Amino acid sequence: MTAQIIDGKAVAAAVRNDVKEEVTKLRAKGIVPGLATVLVGARPDSMSYVTAKRQACAELGIESFPNELPETVSQAEVLALVNKLSADAKVNGILVQLPLPKHIDEESILNAVSINKDVDGFHPINVGKLGMKGREPLFAPCTPAGVIELLDRIGATISGSRAVVLGRSNIVGLPVSLLLLGRDATVTICHSRTKDLASVVRQADILVAAIGKPKFVTADMVKPGAYVIDVGVNSLPVLNPDGSQAISEKTGKPRTKLVGDVDFEAVKEVAAAITPVPGGVGPMTIAMLMKNTLRGAKAAHGIT
Ligand code: GUN
Repeated sequence: MTAQIIDGKAVAAAVRNDVKEEVTKLRAKGIVPGLATVLVGARPDSMSYVTAKRQACAELGIESFPNELPETVSQAEVLALVNKLSADAKVNGILVQLPLPKHIDEESILNAVSINKDVDGFHPINVGKLGMKGREPLFAPCTPAGVIELLDRIGATISGSRAVVLGRSNIVGLPVSLLLLGRDATVTICHSRTKDLASVVRQADILVAAIGKPKFVTADMVKPGAYVIDVGVNSLPVLNPDGSQAISEKTGKPRTKLVGDVDFEAVKEVAAAITPVPGGVGPMTIAMLMKNTLRGAKAAHGIT
């Protein structure tokens, strides 16, 4: 069996389109959704993520409020900015790009984000509500919410399924586990100390891989007919036929390629459906951020 390849770009485009339509309606009522981004320092990956998020805002009619602070900024200054944005009525979502520099305490910065503007879903109250029965946070974290959206759109049955999540990070592993639990899956979280990991993974009807190890999940670890969602984004060097590092003719820099946590070519022969890297979960993160920002704007204006 060859798996259905899940087209994250197409699903993300559909989500973005829905958001754009709703934003257009809000704007007609004089409501302009706004997203504030906070970027500290100049990490190239963070800079390109924030640029992509701002571009998505522009495309969808969401106003973006960029805030760029130098690497050397103090904790108090970042805190003051987040407090100011939390109080600004034009701002419906606050995105503090992670990681922050080491001298800044991430926990206290994220705690300062208003829970009504926490479009990343990283505030501990929102994370807590995610895990509690009968509670629902206003925002679920974007990448995990994107994973669920992909599963729903391909018609996977989550309720009653056995879901295995590889990884327990605050950004993906833990919240995606809570979302799956909230949808009545039987969830197992695997991590670096898990014993006999392959046999646990092999039980998964739904497998979410988020451990940051290139091609870690091999075909023999996957139950035939499983849904495999690969959240891994690993950069590997591209080699020449003689084994040396390939160099880009355009830039003169070493060539790299993105691979996921799953050995895609082998696993696609076993799974029912699988996300590629790139083009799977990746595009969903920004689409869900836009959806969350819209939700924040509607909530701020009492629209359900
Ligand atoms: N760094 C890596 N992923 C994310 C994310 O989803 N949101 C934020 N704010 N920072 C990140």
